[in-house]
Amino acid sequence: MVLAKLSLIHLILTSFLSLHLSKFFTSSPFAFAAANSKREASALLEWKLSLDNQSQASLSSWTTRASPCTWEGIFCDEYNTSVTSIIVANFGLEGTLYGLNFSSFSKLQTLDISNNSFSGTIPHQIANLSTLSQLLMYVNGLNGSIPKEIGELRSLMRLVLSGNRLSGTIPPTIGMLANIIEIDLAQNSISGTIPFIRNLTNLQHLGLSDNCISGRIPPYIGDLLNLNALEMDFNAFSGSIPENIGNLTKLNNLVFSGNMISGSIPSSIGNLVNLTTLDLSRNNLSGFVPSTFGNLTKLNRFSLFINKLWGRLPPAMNNFTNFENLQLGYNSFIGPLPQQICHGGLLTKFGANENNFTGPVPESLKNCSSLTRLRLDENQLIGNISYDFGVYPNLEYIDLSSNNFYGHISPNWAKCHNLTSLKMQNNNLSGGIPPELGQAPKLEQLVLSFNHLTGNIPNQLGNLTLLFDLSISNNELSGNIPPEIGALSRLQFLNLGANNLGGPIPKQVGELPSLLQLNFSNNKLTETIPSFNQLQSLQQLDLSWNFLNGEMPAALTSMKKLITLNLSHNHLSGAIPSSFKDMVSLTNVNISDNQLEGSIPNIPVFLNAPFDALKNNKGLCGNASGLVLCPKLSHNPRGKTKRKVVIMWASILTLGALFLAVFVVGVSLYVCYRITTKAKKEEAKEEKTQDHFAIWSYDGKLVYENIIEATEGFDDKYLIGEGGSASVYKAKLPTGQTVAVKKLHEVSTDETLDLKAFTTEVKALAEIKHRNIVKSLGYCLHPRFSFLIYEFLEGGSVDKLLNNDTRATMFDWERRMKVVKGVANALYHMHHGCFPPIVHRDISSKNVLIDLDYEAHISDFGTAKILNPDSRNLTAFAGTYGYAAPG
Ligand SMILES: *[C@@H]1O[C@H](CO)[C@@H](O)[C@H](O)[C@H]1NC(C)=O
Ligand SMILES: *[C@@H]1O[C@H](CO)[C@@H](O)[C@H](O)[C@H]1NC(C)=O
Ligand SMILES: *[C@@H]1O[C@H](CO)[C@@H](O)[C@H](O)[C@H]1NC(C)=O
Ligand SMILES: *[C@@H]1O[C@H](CO)[C@@H](O)[C@H](O)[C@H]1NC(C)=O
Ligand SMILES: *[C@@H]1O[C@H](CO)[C@@H](O)[C@H](O)[C@H]1NC(C)=O
Ligand SMILES: *[C@@H]1O[C@H](CO)[C@@H](O)[C@H](O)[C@H]1NC(C)=O
Ligand SMILES: *[C@@H]1O[C@H](CO)[C@@H](O)[C@H](O)[C@H]1NC(C)=O
Ligand SMILES: *[C@@H]1O[C@H](CO)[C@@H](O)[C@H](O)[C@H]1NC(C)=O
Ligand SMILES: *[C@@H]1O[C@H](CO)[C@@H](O)[C@H](O)[C@H]1NC(C)=O
Repeated sequence: MVLAKLSLIHLILTSFLSLHLSKFFTSSPFAFAAANSKREASALLEWKLSLDNQSQASLSSWTTRASPCTWEGIFCDEYNTSVTSIIVANFGLEGTLYGLNFSSFSKLQTLDISNNSFSGTIPHQIANLSTLSQLLMYVNGLNGSIPKEIGELRSLMRLVLSGNRLSGTIPPTIGMLANIIEIDLAQNSISGTIPFIRNLTNLQHLGLSDNCISGRIPPYIGDLLNLNALEMDFNAFSGSIPENIGNLTKLNNLVFSGNMISGSIPSSIGNLVNLTTLDLSRNNLSGFVPSTFGNLTKLNRFSLFINKLWGRLPPAMNNFTNFENLQLGYNSFIGPLPQQICHGGLLTKFGANENNFTGPVPESLKNCSSLTRLRLDENQLIGNISYDFGVYPNLEYIDLSSNNFYGHISPNWAKCHNLTSLKMQNNNLSGGIPPELGQAPKLEQLVLSFNHLTGNIPNQLGNLTLLFDLSISNNELSGNIPPEIGALSRLQFLNLGANNLGGPIPKQVGELPSLLQLNFSNNKLTETIPSFNQLQSLQQLDLSWNFLNGEMPAALTSMKKLITLNLSHNHLSGAIPSSFKDMVSLTNVNISDNQLEGSIPNIPVFLNAPFDALKNNKGLCGNASGLVLCPKLSHNPRGKTKRKVVIMWASILTLGALFLAVFVVGVSLYVCYRITTKAKKEEAKEEKTQDHFAIWSYDGKLVYENIIEATEGFDDKYLIGEGGSASVYKAKLPTGQTVAVKKLHEVSTDETLDLKAFTTEVKALAEIKHRNIVKSLGYCLHPRFSFLIYEFLEGGSVDKLLNNDTRATMFDWERRMKVVKGVANALYHMHHGCFPPIVHRDISSKNVLIDLDYEAHISDFGTAKILNPDSRNLTAFAGTYGYAAPG
């Protein structure tokens, strides 16, 4: 009543005062009267003015000429007296929240600024919005930590801050939000542990994905009985999954992937019969899949890949039909694959690679037209695949490699119109390569190596214009190499090695502009090497073990990027073209067992070549081991004697050095420590003794002698890599664990330099934990023997991988993408993740290591600097020329 009266008075007054506002009155039946509403309007306008020009333009309806209740994005109560919602999601706004006077809004229920470009922190005055029930700020650039005052918003039901740059820890006050239904903090840089949230019994959705949160999954998680989505993927959670999680019967989504969760899978999860998404991938889970999982019949997305699970899958799973995405790869499962996985017609992705599954291909896969990706590689599956597969209109990628499949390659594969990769190497396939494959319109990768394929290479393969990888080595293919292959202009890998191919090498092969690796070795190829003058990108050329004759064409030397050249075991004659001296990239050469003569080119790759790479020719000479010097001494036996003497001296010196090393090790007593993340706490102890014996922290000893024993005193046979400032050794500890030991080179005159690199690296590594960053296990610091201990990555460096023919071929585009993504993740994490930011400064293929799953791990922070965010002193050059960022 009072309100109505006031409105009336106001209406009369304003109509007298400002006639030009007539539009406002027509659009608003009730006048905007209450003083508090004026406060709201001016608070909003003030905020608008604090935003940038573009944003102000987007808020053009926000003017003094109209009631805020008519403004775009502003909603009022039924009397139009108070603003209840500010919803400016997707308005293209840029600015901060600092200009918004929160205390002006006494009835606000919803504040939604999502999908804009707001920056700055969340002001603690947000606590003034005492009636707020929804705070939605996802996808902006907000930083700083979540203010603890958020706990004062007792009416809050939805708190969605995902997709920002928030850091710090989750304030414990969040545990007081008794009405909260949804908490979503995903995709930020939040660290610390989950605070006590046991009282949040209304919580339905807890989203913490993609942060740096560590610690255990709360043991009381099973008390949050209303949870239907629990998403904690890609954090640093450890410990095991609490058994009481099985009480959360309302759960639909349970996502724990990408953490360090260990232990076995609780059988109680089998109670969660409404689960549609269950993702436990990329953890350290062990044991088997509980038989209770047989009740999870609604599973649609089920992912266990990259764990240490073993045993058979519950037999009941055989009948599951609702899978859309099923990922079991990289475990140690045995027994048969579930057979009905595509019975429901939903399956798009199925991965069971790198396990020990046995038996046949699931029968329901035969007519699985929904399938887009299938990976069964590296199992013990068996069956005649001539007929096990049908036609898949959506299939893009199939890998059946390394199983016991037999039978023929079906011409039906060509009818899979979306197929890009067909990989079947290392099976027992026989018969020919169907010429129909040439009609597969999108095929990019055809890998059929290591089978028993016979017949010719169909010239129709020349129709596969998108092909980048044609690997059909180690079969029994015969006939000539079809010249049509020369039409494959995108081809990068051409491996026809170890077959029975005869005839000449077609000159068209020399016209493949994208080719990186060419392997025709171990065939029966005849005639001369054609002029390969258009293979400008070629890095590896292997024509060994054929019957090639004639001279080495001078055109070979136009391959400026060639790294490896193997022409051994042929009938090549004449002299080596002098232009070889310009092949600056060449690092491996083998021309043995030919009839070559004359002087070897005067470049290190020849001069340093082992005798095995040059031997058994007609008359090579030059200053390389095993060869005679060129001018007159073409038959001088002194060459041999000299070599023997050299070898003798070398042995004596090596033995001496070894003895010295063992002696030094014997008399010195060093202790090595394991690094934990709590580095800072222990920093005070740093540099406590004179000879740079530093301790950041320790929670267990790795005895120095173990390392020495395991590497036999840093014996070269354990050497796995060498860099400018350190050598890396592989060491198997008595515990059975294999580690990489990075031993710094003997500190020379410039003692402080290496030491600084070392301490930098230790510090950097101690501060970060990320799945794409090499795990640091411990270190030992002393001027004579300083080393770091890392997890050992079996895949080695990307640099090495690319230099190895066979391995590089296996390194397909999917894996390359994975490595690139891994590196990007790691860099993002170092730059924006768990602070302080760290700049690596020397990312190169040498510093990117991979594990067996082709997951990238960045190593070598010797040149990294921990940036004090305020002072950026990046003066001295650090890094590998050509890879370092422009300075
Ligand atoms: C924003 O507006 C101010 C004042 O109208 C003007 O000086 C400034 O140049 C504008 N900035 C941009 C980026 O348009
Ligand atoms: C949780 O609830 C209990 C009992 O209702 C209460 O004693 C306790 O203080 C609450 N804890 C928090 C963090 O709100
Ligand atoms: C929750 O789970 C635990 C362990 O699984 C069980 O002992 C307990 O009875 C369950 N509580 C409720 C309320 O269901
Ligand atoms: C599973 O979901 C159905 C349908 O939403 C519901 O009726 C049923 O109670 C749920 N089951 C459990 C154990 O919560
Ligand atoms: C599935 O659930 C039923 C009833 O809820 C139970 O009797 C049965 O043991 C469960 N099966 C498995 C394999 O756990
Ligand atoms: C699968 O389903 C069939 C028929 O519905 C049933 O007879 C069989 O026992 C089931 N198998 C398993 C392992 O549950
Ligand atoms: C498969 O089984 C073999 C032989 O038992 C074993 O050596 C290998 O590690 C197993 N592979 C996997 C991925 O579990
Ligand atoms: C192939 O892929 C395209 C898009 O990649 C998709 O639209 C199409 O449905 C797929 N299937 C066939 C048969 O082309
Ligand atoms: C495929 O290749 C064959 C032989 O090289 C050729 O005759 C035919 O025209 C090609 N087909 C298409 C569709 O390009």
